[in-house]
Amino acid sequence: MIKACLFDLDGVVVDTAKYHFIAWRSLAEELGFEFTQEDNERLKGVSRMKSLDILLEIGGLEFSDDEKLAMAEKKNTLYVSYIERMTPEEILPGVPEFLQELRNKGIKIALGSASKNSPMILDRIQLSGMFDVVIDGNSIKEAKPNPEVFLKGAERLGISPENCVVFEDAVAGIEAARNAKMYCIGIGEPETLGMADLVIKGFDGFTVEKLKKAIETS
Ligand code: BG6
Ligand code: MG
Repeated sequence: MIKACLFDLDGVVVDTAKYHFIAWRSLAEELGFEFTQEDNERLKGVSRMKSLDILLEIGGLEFSDDEKLAMAEKKNTLYVSYIERMTPEEILPGVPEFLQELRNKGIKIALGSASKNSPMILDRIQLSGMFDVVIDGNSIKEAKPNPEVFLKGAERLGISPENCVVFEDAVAGIEAARNAKMYCIGIGEPETLGMADLVIKGFDGFTVEKLKKAIETS
């Protein structure tokens, strides 16, 4: 029985990957190497500092922890300058309708994101009020694929993991959901997100009825 749905933010509710990409690419350019869209795929669902490590590995560069903190800060300042201007129009298709349907049916809603910028993004896209609980990069110690973010969400909602469904676009996030023993729906392509219980392209036309059918037949 579904009692709660837990949503990743970046790539599930909004497409922020493009802003992360521009900001990381700008840092790479400054450091003198190229950072491609393909490279950016490796950063999906990955924490800010881990993302920087991957970026520096691509550039073949090494820095001290203090230098890395300053770089992450710089990237984030640029990233924030983009997300500050986000509007509700950037919510991915079908998301508001699906969230509203969950609310109408009394199913709880939580956010489970690695991003420390989650509160600002939710505010800008005017969706803060839709989430019963928000667990983000500010409230977790362990990054996905560790299940902490989703287990905390379920705990705060007072709902057991077996009654939770997770929506995720990143491989690390799907692993986190599996580690939390929650039913997991991948948002994207089956080729990449094969370990999810079900993969859908997005929320356009997706309903609680379809979700229940998928769970029953799995
Ligand atoms: C995840 C994104 O949701 O949040 C990653 O998929 C990002 O790309 C991570 O690095 C951390 O985000 P932020 O906003 O705290 O730098
Ligand atoms: Mg994501």
